Formats: sequence, structure tokens, C-alpha cells
Amino acid sequence: MEAEKRKQFNHDLLQWYAENRRDLPWRRTRDPYRIWVSEVMLQQTQVDTVIPYYQKFMDRFPTVYDLAEAPEQTVLKYWEGLGYYSRARHLQQGVREVAEKYDGQVPRGKTDLLSIQGIGPYTAGAILSIAFNEPAPAVDGNVMRVMSRIFLIDEDIAKAKTKKTFARIVGELIAETDPSAFNQSLMDLGAMICHPKNPSCSICPVKKYCLAYDEGAEMEYPVKSGKAKARPIDYAVLLIDDEAGRFLIEQRPDKGLLAGLWQFPMIALQPEDGAEHLQKVFEEKYGWYVPLKKAPFSYTHRFSHLIWHLSLYLGHLDSAIKAGKRRKWADRSEWDAYPFPVPHQKVIEWTEKNRQIHT
Ligand code: ADE
Repeated sequence: MEAEKRKQFNHDLLQWYAENRRDLPWRRTRDPYRIWVSEVMLQQTQVDTVIPYYQKFMDRFPTVYDLAEAPEQTVLKYWEGLGYYSRARHLQQGVREVAEKYDGQVPRGKTDLLSIQGIGPYTAGAILSIAFNEPAPAVDGNVMRVMSRIFLIDEDIAKAKTKKTFARIVGELIAETDPSAFNQSLMDLGAMICHPKNPSCSICPVKKYCLAYDEGAEMEYPVKSGKAKARPIDYAVLLIDDEAGRFLIEQRPDKGLLAGLWQFPMIALQPEDGAEHLQKVFEEKYGWYVPLKKAPFSYTHRFSHLIWHLSLYLGHLDSAIKAGKRRKWADRSEWDAYPFPVPHQKVIEWTEKNRQIHT
């Protein structure tokens, strides 16, 4: 785009943003810590979902030091339901670095920001532009979609190096305007107009600059190579109580999917497996034979790369399995203290509605 056209483009985009911008809680602050938290929450989660989490999180951890000093389990509890929990853990580690190394002040330099745990090029760009008004690109999937259409970029957005192409394009435009408003206007354009499936081109403020619109090819962009399909796995969730009315829960491993969260025991199932198979596996793993009975509950939860199909089995143990650091007997009143992933919260909701659980 030539200089004059760039100027016009920026003008039209920012004018639209001034009139149509979404009123979001993290847009009422320039505190880099708060903007950081919001950007981390928004990375894999929709705005409407994030809003209440952001507000509760800020009430509980209003400053860098409040978050730095909190127990990790408390932070996870405030993240419960948002998913991608390693985001929360990395955020806290990063905030601890800021508390220790930078006197509690989020640094203004790109190199410093990028050295902090959990801050990659996107988050650094968002903090620099939104909080400090520095002309830094913040390229995420939305920005790639919008820009690939406007400039007809046909590089594969599944490839890491493609982000650099977009960062260059955004970098040219943002240098000549209000960086905070510019990046956020792209986010709003992506969310409100330039939708993945049904873009509202007729009301788009920058359609006259959009090469894909001009060619009637907006649906062909962005270009993305095939992603592996999510893999389904069947699991039995075991709801095992003892004579004191407590239930067996366990903590997931420290690494990997849902790391550190708590759950009822789960055993992977082949389609033909039933209670007998589960009893055997449970006995091998926990050292106790427990008769199990299927309960009328099933739930499907999609992760980015896997799909859990859960079914529920009930069991009862007269003399309790020994608890440990990662394995506890907890009654209902204690469950609140543990962060559970969403599918296990659904199990909890089911137990609330079916209080008389006899096995
Ligand atoms: N998505 C990612 N960052 C965002 C922000 N700051 N506002 C709205 N949507 C976003």
C-alpha cells in the first residue's frame, strides 16, 4: 500500500473503532499488568467467557504482588473452567519474575518482555501497544484472518514463519498511527465484521482496501493447511465414596493436559469394555477391588486435539484407600477448594442433582 492509501486506511479503521469499539473491562485501564492478564485469558478464549473471569481475577489479584504471592492452587481455582491451564501457571511465573527482577513494574522493552515466562511475541506486542502505546504488532489468528483478506496473503497460517509476514505488514501500518487503537481495532474488526465463516463485508469500514473482497474471495482466506482431526477417547469416571460420605479425588500430573488440576479417577475404555474391565484396572492401579455400577450420565468435552467421551460409574469402599499428597478423600463441602476441569465439574453438578448415590 502506498503512503497516502495507508493513511486513509488507518483513518477509516480508527474512525470506525472510535464509534464502534466494544466496551470491555480491560479497556478501562492502561495498567500493563491488567492488560497482560486480559491478553493471556483471551488467547484461547472468547471475550464473553473471559469477562467474568477477568473481573473476579482482578478483584482477587489486583496487583502484581497479589498474584506473585498467591498459592498456585488458588490461581488455578480462579482459572477453573477457562481451560488451557498452563496459561495460568506461566502467567504466575512471569508475574513472579516481574515482582522479583523488575521491582513489580512490567518492563517497557520488548527484549525484557520476551524474556519473561509466558510472554511470547503476541503478548509482548499487545502489552507494548495497548499499555505503553508503542508501535508493536500483535499478531494472532484474528489479525491474520483480517490481514490475509485485505492484502490477499496466501501463506499458510499454520506455519510459524507466516506470523512474521503479518507482523511486517502490521508494523508498517501501525508506525503511522495510534498503536493502541490500531491493534485493538483489528481485534474488533476480526470479532465483529471479518468473521471466519460469514464476514459482514457490506458494512466493513475498510472494504474498499480489501483485495479479497474485491475478488469475491474472502472465504478463501486465510489459507490454512489441514490440521489433524481431534481424536476421541472414551473414559469411565469413577465416583467412589467411603462410609463417611467422602469421594476419592486425585491430582493430575504436573505436566501435560490439565496439569495439576483435580479429578475423580478416570480409566480409558475400549468400546467393548464394561464394569468388569474397570474393576480389574482399578484394582491393579489402586490395590482395591470395588464393584462398579454404571450411572446414567455421559458428557463430551472437546479439547483442541482430543475429545473426551465420559461415562460415569459408581462404587463404594468400606475401608478407605490411603490418601496421599495427590490422592484425597473429600466430601462435597471440600470440593470447592480444588480446581476441577469442566467435564468433572459436570460430574459434580450431576451428583448435586442425584444426592442419594447408593452403589
Ligand atoms: N482478543 C485478544 N485481545 C483482545 C483485546 N484486548 N480485546 C478484545 N479482544 C481481544
